[in-house]
Amino acid sequence: MKLGLPNTLVAEAGTRNVPADQASYAGLRAGDVLDSRFRILEPLNHGGMATVFKAEDLQHVGQLVAIKVPLEKFASGLGAWSRVNREEEIGSQLAHPFLLRFLPVPGRPHGAYVVTEYLRGETLADRLQRQPPLSEAEALHIAGRVAEAVHYLHQHGAVHYDLKPGNVMLCDDGSLRLLDFGLAHPVATRRFRLQGTAPTMGTTEYIAPEQLAGKHGRISADIYALGAMLYEMVTGVAPFPAADALDGGMHRLTGDPVAPRSLNPALSPTVEEIILRALQRDPARRYRSADALQADLAAPWQVRVTGLCERLQPSTRTRRVFLKVRRFALLCLLPMVLQALLYVWIWWHFVHR
Ligand SMILES: Nc1ncnc2c1ncn2[C@@H]1O[C@H](COP(=O)(O)OP(=O)(O)O)[C@@H](O)[C@H]1O
Ligand SMILES: [Mg+2]
Repeated sequence: MKLGLPNTLVAEAGTRNVPADQASYAGLRAGDVLDSRFRILEPLNHGGMATVFKAEDLQHVGQLVAIKVPLEKFASGLGAWSRVNREEEIGSQLAHPFLLRFLPVPGRPHGAYVVTEYLRGETLADRLQRQPPLSEAEALHIAGRVAEAVHYLHQHGAVHYDLKPGNVMLCDDGSLRLLDFGLAHPVATRRFRLQGTAPTMGTTEYIAPEQLAGKHGRISADIYALGAMLYEMVTGVAPFPAADALDGGMHRLTGDPVAPRSLNPALSPTVEEIILRALQRDPARRYRSADALQADLAAPWQVRVTGLCERLQPSTRTRRVFLKVRRFALLCLLPMVLQALLYVWIWWHFVHR
């Protein structure tokens, strides 16, 4: 699939050997050979930060791989470099049937590109665009597998932090892979902000409220994103669709989503309860682990319906305005408080003594 890719990427073949450290800014083309080893066949897709190419591994004739290279415009940025590095560092330590498999390439400079298995299929995002919503059974099946992969990730000390339909590949052979560890980081990180420039934050529909506020990057953010994906799978729309990211963020910080069954009355009350428990605004009220969520996804008939759908608070205009005013007032007050503290300090040191 070629989605709005720059023309240079799909230009006709010419055999060039591109060294690893020039992969991104050389504008890889079909026919190029990267690092004397990978023949670029075609661009597959690109996300916010990178282009992914289908390539042939010339050391293992006929073996297809996927090569992820930071977008040209980010090639010189530290953000892209650290994303690719982190992605490789985390990805190469993991081995799970529902996680993208990374291929080691000895001797390659770190951060230039990553090589992974090549997947034939479509992303969950493509699928949702083509045919929304999914049946309840299929949505539970997909969400259960993603939850299993996420639980494995958490057990290995990492948070994914960028769970969204574009990062889930539904493979033609019926399997599934969770992709893109570019924002993944250790569970223990106390404070974590999204890095890089705007495209990194392109899709905000699945981001937890505390993540939007730049707070702790904990596993609860992944639970929220899983809930948001399941919501979209069974209703056909994301929980906080908004004209722009800021508006959607404001809704999420101040209110709950519309009850899924009001959008899809055929949905069972137990699945609605699961979704709303994963989407609780307060992280402490969400599922404690992806494992607990997966258990409910596997046996939804055992879930006790507590009436979460009746306690939803819509994000009202008044509450949004109140929050904006409070933030503005705090921003105005801060310089005054700092100035007052400075006066007290000067008085204490120079006048009082
Ligand atoms: N191993 C792969 N095989 C086939 N397509 C892939 C593979 N990895 C990624 N893609 C495609 O490339 C897109 C972007 O990849 P991703 O790793 O999410 O990059 P970004 O960090 O820029 O979001 C995916 O949504 C998917 O369509
Ligand atoms: Mg991605």
